[in-house]
Amino acid sequence: MNQQLFSEITAFFNKLPRQGVGSTQSFQKAFNLLPKLGAGSQIVDIGCGTGGQTLDLLTHCAGHVTAVDSSQSSLDILKEKADKAGFSDRIEILCEDITEMELFEQSFDLIWSEGAIYNFGLEEGLTTWRSLLKQSAYVVVNDCCWLTDTPDPETLGFWNEGYPGMTNQLTAQQCIERAGFKLIESFVQPENDWWENFYTPMEQEIALQKNRSAEELPEGYMAFLAGMEAEIGLRRKHKREYGYVFFILEKK
Ligand SMILES: C[S@@+](CC[C@H](N)C(=O)[O-])C[C@H]1O[C@@H](n2cnc3c(N)ncnc32)[C@H](O)[C@@H]1O
Repeated sequence: MNQQLFSEITAFFNKLPRQGVGSTQSFQKAFNLLPKLGAGSQIVDIGCGTGGQTLDLLTHCAGHVTAVDSSQSSLDILKEKADKAGFSDRIEILCEDITEMELFEQSFDLIWSEGAIYNFGLEEGLTTWRSLLKQSAYVVVNDCCWLTDTPDPETLGFWNEGYPGMTNQLTAQQCIERAGFKLIESFVQPENDWWENFYTPMEQEIALQKNRSAEELPEGYMAFLAGMEAEIGLRRKHKREYGYVFFILEKK
């Protein structure tokens, strides 16, 4: 993908309240399943984007949050939001590739990651991230999972292309065990998590983007918008077949 197209796509997602499926309500539900984390706790938010869940972490926990993402433009938005909310002294914002975080060996009490582990696949991501954790520590991660063994061919085709490593919840549990974690709890995120902060504002943004003149758009951008419309259409038709699942894990 060329740089101009990549920048336009990042800017598109940065305009949305969240860059993935999520909400403060689901954050709270997952957070409440963890043991209490004190003011001295060290948390890392991996693939934080513009920081929807980062601000939730800072609001609900007294600890220190290291927010990591490879997109500087997303992190600039997070910094502005964190400063405005008065969290500057409890956050470190790092522009880093999440596949190269060796410097942080055994540093964290909690890894939080929404919408980012698909970059590795669940098992590989958890296995890699395990070394970042202290001896007694936790992970909260969400991932898109199959909710049926018999998906419609349209859904299967879409996800085989978009996320070929997508598992069902049972396989996810096996991946979690193999990666060295114990499953405390899991839950499928409610349908509203797909819409309120993500697909509904996305549809509005797509409509605005389509009004731009063709000359100012990089090649491939209209195809990207069409792809996002197809993804939203698929959700409307086949929402029972796949869903985002939160996993609350303890390091073994
Ligand atoms: C689907 S978005 C989720 C953002 C945010 N957690 C949320 O739920 O709103 C995934 C994020 O992961 C980041 N990301 C993807 N690959 C990455 C990598 N290799 N290193 C660092 N960040 C990465 C993207 O820049 C993006 O902000």
